[in-house]
Amino acid sequence: MCGIIGIAGKTQAVPVLLDGLEKLEYRGYDSAGVAVITDDGTLRVEKCKGRIAVLREKTDEGAPITGTTGIGHTRWATHGEPSDINAHPQMGQEGIVAVVHNGIIENYRELKQSLERSGRVFQSETDTEVVAQLMEYYYDMYHDLMDAVYAMLSRIRGSYALGILSSDAPGQIIAAKKDAPLLIGYGEGENFIASDVTALLSHTRTVSYLDDDEVAVITPESVRIYDAGRLPVTKEKHAVEWDVSSAEKGGYAHFMLKEIMEQPDAVRRTFSPRLQDSRIEFEELAGVPDLIKNISRIYLVGCGSAYHVGVVGKYMMEKLLRIPAEAVLGSEFRYCDPIVGPDTLVIVISQSGETLDSMAALREAKRRGATVLAVVNVIGSSIAREADIVIYTWAGPEIAVATTKAYSTQLVLLSMLTVYFAEKLGKISSEDYGRYVNDLSELPGKMETTLGNIGNIQKTASLSFNHDSVFFIGRNLDYALGLEGSLKLKEISYIHSESYAAGELKHGTISLMEPGVLVVTLATCSSLIEKTWSNMVEVTTRGADVLALTTEDNVSRFSEEASAILPVPSTNELLQMNLNIIPLQLFAYYVALNRGCDIDKPRNLAKSVTVE
Ligand code: G6P
Repeated sequence: MCGIIGIAGKTQAVPVLLDGLEKLEYRGYDSAGVAVITDDGTLRVEKCKGRIAVLREKTDEGAPITGTTGIGHTRWATHGEPSDINAHPQMGQEGIVAVVHNGIIENYRELKQSLERSGRVFQSETDTEVVAQLMEYYYDMYHDLMDAVYAMLSRIRGSYALGILSSDAPGQIIAAKKDAPLLIGYGEGENFIASDVTALLSHTRTVSYLDDDEVAVITPESVRIYDAGRLPVTKEKHAVEWDVSSAEKGGYAHFMLKEIMEQPDAVRRTFSPRLQDSRIEFEELAGVPDLIKNISRIYLVGCGSAYHVGVVGKYMMEKLLRIPAEAVLGSEFRYCDPIVGPDTLVIVISQSGETLDSMAALREAKRRGATVLAVVNVIGSSIAREADIVIYTWAGPEIAVATTKAYSTQLVLLSMLTVYFAEKLGKISSEDYGRYVNDLSELPGKMETTLGNIGNIQKTASLSFNHDSVFFIGRNLDYALGLEGSLKLKEISYIHSESYAAGELKHGTISLMEPGVLVVTLATCSSLIEKTWSNMVEVTTRGADVLALTTEDNVSRFSEEASAILPVPSTNELLQMNLNIIPLQLFAYYVALNRGCDIDKPRNLAKSVTVE
């Protein structure tokens, strides 16, 4: 979704802004723009619909626009279509204030009408222009920028990360935040704002995270932060450990492929530090050793792929812990009046740690007295900061919109948590515990073996890419995996795809089975393989084409009916999905490649969804 970068420095701002915006491209956007305070003290805004490359061309790489303080933005349209005029930065009509904004100003209509009544003329359809116009309105009234900022903030409702420039304050950026991430980057003789740390990695690794209702004033030499009452705030500085190369493609054609191939390492980074002397240790849970003993209900909450991890978690936790566990979509949780109290554990799963619906679920769970444990990738993100307990996945930066390595690390972490809690409750035998730990140590090697089958998967995809309709079927954990396999395929290849519990197919969807339809049959849960095999036969009988994903020892069972087989090594059932997902990710990738799709930035999608 929208991205923000800003610099108050001593070098030319626009090239820095353009580079920073490129680092934010992965979030998904439809237009982009920059504003600088030029050397003659005026505000100059350049913006356009389309990619950063278009903006680069339009600004001649930024070279002719002189000025060392600027803000930049990638916009993902919410209010007003993607267009040059609706792109950010938005200016007030007097040209004194320019604003970039992530989030939504919920009361923008009434504010706009009231400003129009006082004679202000609006150019765009955006909610953001209201911020710029309101700033100028109050600046005219108070002749003081900070007075204008606080007055403007007192009028707007909704979520915002704001970067504000004024021609009357050269060398200064004002930033404000509520319910949308914004961080400050500290450099040498230059300071930054950004919505996302990846935009800053090539300049600084020292950052502070703004909290809600804080306002920051950034100049090349100083960063001053104030709370809602205008009192100064001292912020902790954090060192970001991600390096620049992990946010670059490193020879791969796409970030998605690079991130798929990185999964064995990512998963190893997730579990190794938490395996000590063949025991699972979560430092993060050291302060609450009896947590699970006081829990009688578990919710696993997330959106998109993170929700799919929650479905896997539900199956694993219920089976081992014998505690009712439910996976709930972040967007539904707070509206379904969930049964939540002090004996409830709510596990919020999120790569970005910024997904608005997951965040809202977290707050609702806390309000109702639950313990909230967040499984998050981005360090210092909003969900990480607000949860009672945060366990980081340590997958490293994930750039492709379609998640792969973050999903895998979430999966492995959920299985570890399940076994850790089961041991605390005395519900796992020492043999099973030992077997799991051993299988966990062997997992990266088996993932590498599975990745080694890439040629076969590529070939299969090249034979299947022109199907119009694909169904995924499986039972139990294979069903949970099918949800993710189907989402991967549809989000990057734009093929219509659905996932069903294999036994459910005959309750309606079987009417769609006919020649030309592809059914990906997932059959790795050993006790259910025969049943899934029967469901597969039901669809081949009706002429559908079948692709079967099964363990190496079961390939022969499927070879007659399936037109292609994706074999995976066998492992512990709690880890099997970590192997199974690999062929499905690669299948989606190569199908999309064959169809000429924009794999890292699929149409209409955003990496981090910060609106409801
Ligand atoms: C978007 C992304 C998905 C992701 C979902 C949840 O839809 O495209 O890949 O699974 O948001 O994001 P989160 O950052 O909370 O995991």
